[in-house]
Amino acid sequence: MDKSDIRWNNNFTFLISMIGSAVGLGNIWRYPYILYSNGGGSFLFVYLITILLFGVPFLLLEYSIGFKFKNSIPKIFGSINHRLEVIGWFIVLIPFMILTYYTTVIGWDAIYFILSFFKGWGADTNNFFSQSVLQSTDSIGGLTHIVLFCLISTLFVWFIIWFISHRDLNKGIGKVNKALIPLLFITMACIVIYSLTLKGALLGLTTLFTPKWSEISNPNIWIAAITQILFSLSIGVGVSTTYSSYISKNPKLTKNAIIVVCANCGFEFFTAIGIFSILGFMSATTGIGIHNLISEGTGLAFIVFPQVLNVFGDVAYIIGPIFFLCIFFAGVTSAISLLEPLISGMKEKSGLSRKKVTTCLVLVGTLISVIYTTGYGSYILSIVDQTLNQVFVIFCVILEAIIFSWFWGLDKIIRVLNINPATKIGKYWMLSMKYLLPFALICLWISGIYNILKTAGFMEQIVNLIILLIFIIVPFILTSFPSKSAENDNSELAKI
Ligand code: PFF
Repeated sequence: MDKSDIRWNNNFTFLISMIGSAVGLGNIWRYPYILYSNGGGSFLFVYLITILLFGVPFLLLEYSIGFKFKNSIPKIFGSINHRLEVIGWFIVLIPFMILTYYTTVIGWDAIYFILSFFKGWGADTNNFFSQSVLQSTDSIGGLTHIVLFCLISTLFVWFIIWFISHRDLNKGIGKVNKALIPLLFITMACIVIYSLTLKGALLGLTTLFTPKWSEISNPNIWIAAITQILFSLSIGVGVSTTYSSYISKNPKLTKNAIIVVCANCGFEFFTAIGIFSILGFMSATTGIGIHNLISEGTGLAFIVFPQVLNVFGDVAYIIGPIFFLCIFFAGVTSAISLLEPLISGMKEKSGLSRKKVTTCLVLVGTLISVIYTTGYGSYILSIVDQTLNQVFVIFCVILEAIIFSWFWGLDKIIRVLNINPATKIGKYWMLSMKYLLPFALICLWISGIYNILKTAGFMEQIVNLIILLIFIIVPFILTSFPSKSAENDNSELAKI
């Protein structure tokens, strides 16, 4: 097999692709709201601790597993014990399922990018988003009504993903990340600098950062921080492991992990500054209280932001397209990483070329995405998003932590991490992986399930049941097929 298909050509390509995966929709629309609603300045402190205790240690674990085994996730688990292969398939199915709705959201963004050239959302941005764009309904009959524009934009996003991912690793994923990530950082920096010059920016920033230290003892704040850091750093779903399995030699794993964390968290921090300065401007201009403007996720990007652009005057025709383009770039570079663990697994299982595997997966993914483009789609999307992130992703992180620290042996992993150290990894990391991480995450997981069971209505329970069945049946089916690929080159493994 041609090695250019399965190895990064240099460390920078790996690094920038990891940053591309981490910096995504979650940084732009989720983080600012989470920061604000969980205590502002005091949340920064909580977030920093969670990054150090959970984010960095887990990223190091995933990098070292990928580099050491140089295989797909199912094969890594299968080589520890053949009965564990099914867990590998379970893990790689999660990013794929996330991708099926992530593409739809990027598609909404593409629609707004076009609308931003002429402020096509009108005065009532809330009504426009729910009635004209999503055409959402709370009746299940909405499933039969496909919203044409959402469908077209979703197909377009899937096409882009196929276009990038079916190529060789460095010519596809590597090249796109090298082009888009610097562009994304530069354009976002321009937006942030501009937003700081606006009247009312200070109001926005004080609202964002005023600390509420009493909140620090609230467990929900810690839960919010951990859930956000897992999603934001693309942890737990095999993406980092798959990307690092493509490193050929001289791994600077520790240094890379630190750079990725700094780039990702720096990006979301500055984005939050930009967004809140703009909200401050909106509040100062219209007299609407800033607390009434703050909203989460889709609400922020597709309802509040267009509202802000409406009062911006002509600058809106520059800021608007740039903002939606930034979301698009961030989304696409994360989306391609969400597909990679399954591509890698299926390539090994089927022995087929990257091109064929990618084409098949993109077709299946597109079909699933159609559900989210229906009138009932955004409702199902929010249920799937909540269940996958609060239950399935955390479950995977627990499994990985337990399997590798209790059964496989962290001492073997430490040797990989310390081959080329920026800092020596040692006892504290092992303690965190073995005790702190699993224990804290099991508590978090139980509370996530309890939350969902407590609040779920009939429809939510049905959707959750379907998700659960998919995640039980598909991994078993995939495991039952014999692997068609030749044994992977694991010479590195033997040396360490
Ligand atoms: N980190 C991405 C974001 O913040 O939007 C989303 C993501 C990408 C999650 C890749 C998980 C993943 F494996």
